[in-house]
Amino acid sequence: MEGGRMSRLIPAAMLLASTLALGAAISFKATAQSDEGKSVVAGKPDHWWSPGDGRRFPEFLTYANDWGELGLYLEGEPIETKGHAFFEPIGANGRACVSCHQPEDGMSLSVRSIQKRWQETGGKDPIFAQVDGANCPTLPASDPASHSLLLTRGLFRVSLPWPPKAPDGKAIEPEFTIEVVRDPTGCNTSARYGLTSAQPMISVYRRPRPVANTKYTTQQRFGVSPFIGKNGLPTARDPETGKPVSMNIMADARHATLAVQARDAAANHLEFAGRLSEKQIAQIQDFERRIYVAQVKLIQAGSLVEPDGPPAFGPRNLAKGDAGVLGNNTTRYVFPMGDAWKTPKPGETAEQRAKREAIRRGHDVFFFRTFWIKDSMHLNTVGLGNPTKRTCGTCHGMHMTGMDSANGWMDIGTTNLPWAKEVPLNPWNPNKPDLPLFKITCKPGVLPHPYLGRVFYTQDPGRALISGKCNDVGTIVMQQFRGLASRAPYFSNGSAANIRELIDYYDRRYNIQFTEQERLDLETFLASL
Ligand code: HEC
Ligand code: HEC
Repeated sequence: MEGGRMSRLIPAAMLLASTLALGAAISFKATAQSDEGKSVVAGKPDHWWSPGDGRRFPEFLTYANDWGELGLYLEGEPIETKGHAFFEPIGANGRACVSCHQPEDGMSLSVRSIQKRWQETGGKDPIFAQVDGANCPTLPASDPASHSLLLTRGLFRVSLPWPPKAPDGKAIEPEFTIEVVRDPTGCNTSARYGLTSAQPMISVYRRPRPVANTKYTTQQRFGVSPFIGKNGLPTARDPETGKPVSMNIMADARHATLAVQARDAAANHLEFAGRLSEKQIAQIQDFERRIYVAQVKLIQAGSLVEPDGPPAFGPRNLAKGDAGVLGNNTTRYVFPMGDAWKTPKPGETAEQRAKREAIRRGHDVFFFRTFWIKDSMHLNTVGLGNPTKRTCGTCHGMHMTGMDSANGWMDIGTTNLPWAKEVPLNPWNPNKPDLPLFKITCKPGVLPHPYLGRVFYTQDPGRALISGKCNDVGTIVMQQFRGLASRAPYFSNGSAANIRELIDYYDRRYNIQFTEQERLDLETFLASL
């Protein structure tokens, strides 16, 4: 899709330079509007949801994006957001949950919105709060350079204790030692926030994950095994019910449930000093459980959600779908297309027909196009062989969302060297790496990492910051695929600026050698989700 590929992010250097030049206007490329694609927010032309602005969250909302239009479906009653804990600035820094989980951005936060917010507020919007909206809280607040990771890659600072602590507060003895090799943000070597501070912490930098379609991210249909298939450790449990949980939320699955997550988010992102009340937790969860997000229109293809359209598409189909089910290619595809668009429909234009055929072909690339998956921790180690000739759908198997239907952390090389090379990670300034780099040394007496050995390097240890396991280093819980078109950039570290770059990453990583046609079709399909 032309719109998607053309829209490049504003290079960091340009953005920083021009924001420094007081108010110099950056012309944001206007979001392409589909014909009928006017966004509707009653009484408020502004797309941005500010904390506490007291709007009503209606049953259905749409927002235009580069590729067409996103739809948000709130199952059940509309919500009056006044007094609602997800929407009110309940903490000390003026943020609400909605600050970083914006409806227009598929309940995540796009770099485009972040850059626009900086322009409109001169960097004063609460999303830029020093606590995690700056590369490190020690840096000068109003300087865009202090917020470069947020402004260029959409990353917030996530600070985690080292060594890790179990949910009961007990220290976990890690299997490896970690050293800071490079610290461009200054936070990992800071006397106050770093690894040698009184309470040793590690700062990594991550994208907000979409808060929607949560029945899929939090549920497993047939009950959860008490042991993690990937490493045999006990599965995390819901502190309220004692039951094992899906372990599919957050990049490192560190929070067992939405309630546990909400308490942590309030304390860390909102700087909320107290403990959320039961009513506040209930409000947050109620919203999180009822909100469904997916693309509803694609430019040229038109509506994705006509009654006889593909059963995978649109937020209402997500609300109807079965959660936590592993897709198969007989009864339940990961993203079921049904018979939709197989044959021309009366009234379809040639352009529409062509685009709809491209979507169907893109689906087949995702689901059937094989390539050799190699040296990927928690995929090649589970008995499929290394290498193994499989497809995107092998890892991304959960019906309707493309997550892992088991606990979803794997290492595809997005954060571990050698695959996480500096240059593609920082296309804006290849000579000046912007993410921290850590050296991992697996201790004597534990097995080395099966593919990386005993000593290796990472920019974000991922799940290993929670489990302390050598072979978890660099594993990231896969995100759901819905609303992708509205929330670039991609991967937990924001290293793919758009869908095309995401596809190109896989092409390099697994030497897939997609044809140009396959690339275009896959891109079109992913943008339709
Ligand atoms: C400053 C930005 C920010 C604010 C404010 C914020 N979040 Fe988030 N949220 C994030 C980031 C970043 C992540 C991913 C962190 C990670 O993976 O380690 C995330 C992840 C999540 C997830 C996990 C989604 C998934 O499927 O993995 C949920 C749920 C969530 N946030 C809910 C909330 C709630 C509830 C609040 C308010 C109490 C809130 N967030 C406030 C930035 C924010
Ligand atoms: C070996 C397992 C594996 C294979 C094969 C795989 N992925 Fe992924 N995928 C992951 C993991 C792990 C992540 C999370 C990585 C991160 O955030 O750093 C991910 C993330 C994604 C995301 C979500 C990005 C976001 O930010 O929301 C998309 C989209 C995606 N993959 C598409 C694909 C496509 C297309 C293919 C086939 C060309 C593919 N994947 C093949 C494991 C895999």
